[in-house]
Amino acid sequence: MSVLPATDPIPQRTATRRHFLMCRPDHFTVAYAINPWMDPAAGTDTAKAVEQWEALRAAYVSLGHEVSLIDPIEGLPDMVFAANGALVVGGRVYGARFAHPERRAEGPAYSAWFRGNGFGEVLEPEHTNEGEGDFLTLDHVILAGTGFRTDLAAHQEAQEFLGRPVVTLRLVDPRFYHLDTALFPLGDGNVAYYPGAFSPGSRTVLERLFPDAVLAGERDAAVLGLNAVCDGRHIVIDAEAAGLIASLRIHGYEPVPVNMSELRKAGGGPKCCTLELRF
Ligand code: ARG
Repeated sequence: MSVLPATDPIPQRTATRRHFLMCRPDHFTVAYAINPWMDPAAGTDTAKAVEQWEALRAAYVSLGHEVSLIDPIEGLPDMVFAANGALVVGGRVYGARFAHPERRAEGPAYSAWFRGNGFGEVLEPEHTNEGEGDFLTLDHVILAGTGFRTDLAAHQEAQEFLGRPVVTLRLVDPRFYHLDTALFPLGDGNVAYYPGAFSPGSRTVLERLFPDAVLAGERDAAVLGLNAVCDGRHIVIDAEAAGLIASLRIHGYEPVPVNMSELRKAGGGPKCCTLELRF
């Protein structure tokens, strides 16, 4: 009997159909700076932002996902970043309360959309939180970021309202001001992340929870490669995150690269434009 060298077969990944909420960037621009990516003097091309966003929406539709739309509001240039509008788990909507006054009006706007679209349980939060920007839902746990935008007290508030365990992670690098800029859930209860975005203690928590995580390097993180959306098999990801795309392929995922260069001027990537509606 011959002994074959142990080669791990590439695992088969299975996609599940998702329902997303998106907001067309008709009023997109960089009019203020609330994160290090934003430079109001640099200039933006709204038509190009719309084009890139349309390609993102088309990618979801071609993967079989459902996309609902919320109307953009003039004077709210960051409203395209739908991920920040709420956290929806089990059909319950934990509303957003934005950290910066420039975005504050988006919270009620998103909550009103949910009330008008059949969501009966919508909580107006007491504590500052930026929705799925800082809350990422896995089957058994919700990972929650703090340090720049979302208050620690909101982690507790979300846990109580949603009845899911919430694990706090502390962000320490201002470029990665939301959890979804530094980490994304894969299928099978695993995640991909950039360790440098987290405090030492939170890094240890991540190592314990996810010993098989896909780790990203700084280059891929710095093009917002971790601001990605995985349906269990496909990963919609910034095309410039070449190293991360290659390692995700090795892990059996199917990357779907998109170009987000214009929206990145506001500090956002594909995931920021995407709020998942979980029923
Ligand atoms: N300019 C926006 C802000 O700083 C970008 C939000 C990106 N959204 C996200 N989910 N990371 O608030």
